[in-house]
Amino acid sequence: MANKSVWSDNRFWARSAAWISGFASVLLIWLTFDTSVQISMGTDSDLKNGVTKRVPAPTVINYKITYEMSAKRGHEVPIIGGNDGKGMSLFQEKEKFFGKDDWSEKEAAEMLHLGKLASQTKNCMNCHTLLGNGAYYAPDLTKAWLDPAWSSTGALQPMTGKTTKEEAMAEFLQHPSKYPTHARMMPNLGITEKEARGLVAFLKHMSSIDTNGFPRNFGKMQGAVNGK
Ligand code: HEC
Repeated sequence: MANKSVWSDNRFWARSAAWISGFASVLLIWLTFDTSVQISMGTDSDLKNGVTKRVPAPTVINYKITYEMSAKRGHEVPIIGGNDGKGMSLFQEKEKFFGKDDWSEKEAAEMLHLGKLASQTKNCMNCHTLLGNGAYYAPDLTKAWLDPAWSSTGALQPMTGKTTKEEAMAEFLQHPSKYPTHARMMPNLGITEKEARGLVAFLKHMSSIDTNGFPRNFGKMQGAVNGK
């Protein structure tokens, strides 16, 4: 009888296919669970106890958020409430948000919820991307809160005549066509003051999410702000 090569044996291929499908299913199930754990929102006690979560609780709006290079991870990471010197958040340094210290869990959650609804009804994603999803007409908003242009020495805040980042952003969102800052202009979307505040809370919260350095080169892209 002639030697039959294993490569032409149907049973070999059938078994391989079964093993590979089995392995891939287990891997996918594990990855699904791992992802849900990674993206589940932290709690206010996590923040108080210094537990780092990828998606912090809404009360993160009470803290100072910065974006700093992590040598260990090779990209920038959101730092909440001060840096421990090793690239980890201290969860200590706080800042007022719309003139108020320590928004309660309920107040912060409500504000964030309103902002999320407003972002959907006003369809920010029609022009912008949020966490990478949406359109490419206008800048990605994932880290908009951390855009130096909104700081007191940046290009945008002084233009609005406001003295805090949140008030400047809320003013811009209500009257974007008054502040033509890029070659493209954001149209007035009929956003109320309450909605604008919610949207700013939504943007601040989103900036605190650890997105593994996405959008890439955000720090370097700042040259693009203000049409420069
Ligand atoms: C019709 C398109 C369009 C829609 C819809 C839109 N924007 Fe914009 N937005 C723009 C453009 C264009 C710019 C850049 C213009 C500028 O900075 O002057 C911009 C700029 C911004 C900026 C400043 C970005 C920076 O450099 O930090 C923020 C914040 C912002 N938009 C938030 C929002 C939010 C929140 C919504 C939804 C409520 C929204 N936009 C809906 C077009 C749009």
